[in-house]
Amino acid sequence: MRYFTNIDDILSIEDAIAKARYVKQHPFADQELGKNKTLLMIFFNSSLRTRLSTQKAGLNLGMNVIVLDINQGAWKLETERGVIMDGDKPEHILEAIPVMGSYCDIIGVRSFARFESKSFDYEETILNQFIKYSGKPVFSMEAATRHPLQTFADLITIEEYKRTERPKVVLTWAPHPKALPQAVANSFSEWMNETDYDFVITHPKGYELAPEFVGKAKVEYDQNKAFEGADFIYAKNWSAYSEPNYGKVLSTDRSWTVDSAKMALTDNAYFMHCLPVRRNMIVSDDVIESPCSIVIPEAANRVVSAQTVLKELLIGLNK
Ligand code: CP
Repeated sequence: MRYFTNIDDILSIEDAIAKARYVKQHPFADQELGKNKTLLMIFFNSSLRTRLSTQKAGLNLGMNVIVLDINQGAWKLETERGVIMDGDKPEHILEAIPVMGSYCDIIGVRSFARFESKSFDYEETILNQFIKYSGKPVFSMEAATRHPLQTFADLITIEEYKRTERPKVVLTWAPHPKALPQAVANSFSEWMNETDYDFVITHPKGYELAPEFVGKAKVEYDQNKAFEGADFIYAKNWSAYSEPNYGKVLSTDRSWTVDSAKMALTDNAYFMHCLPVRRNMIVSDDVIESPCSIVIPEAANRVVSAQTVLKELLIGLNK
């Protein structure tokens, strides 16, 4: 493996799950692979889980780990071409990337959608610049359109908790006061479409995801109907994708929150997603404390997904 930015970078879902199972059972078995190799984790945006889990994954593999927060202690980076650099960004990203690449063996990048230009975001401009100019293997720690490390962990968690061969998995939009990227929902949909699960997406009208991510998923606008018989409910907010509302919050309909909480409890569906929950906004305390909530094991599996990916990238270095 040379890159990990989307589902096309894995051999298959089955192969990825088998490799993750091995890593989970043998977390320190591959320390020789990472010895004297340096992982550089670059954050353009904040992170709790991805930062800690990927760092731990690198350490489990015997790697040296450097974490760089752009905008906090590093020079601000100009990302546009053809601009006069007399503002607050003294360094250009195209010059900084090869410099960063020279200090490491593998680079992880977190760079969210900016919502200034849909094409800039959906062409993955920042991530692709790292791929093009760093000269090093690159993996996504959530980019503009996808969050594959998160989804890989979600998949591992579903495999561990599923009570039937073909579980019903529902991705539901949930309210949030801020405009959030579509990356987690996009990735989740992209990966779920590669499984043989019964996969359903539910959201209010106006929050349709990009068609290439919806794929063959069933879209059900009636949330209660979508939840019927669900084995897993994955709650996530995302902003509108379709123009002219790209990146905007259209509504904060609280009924979606309450319904998802109720259904998670009454239907015994496992309630997923490990992003911070906002009291009385996304899920109720009942759900946080519910035995149906698997947000903690899901977060723990982030180490497993990151370590599985890093291991494959390290193997790729030696080829
Ligand atoms: N879900 C996720 O990636 O969490 P962080 O933003 O805390 O890394």
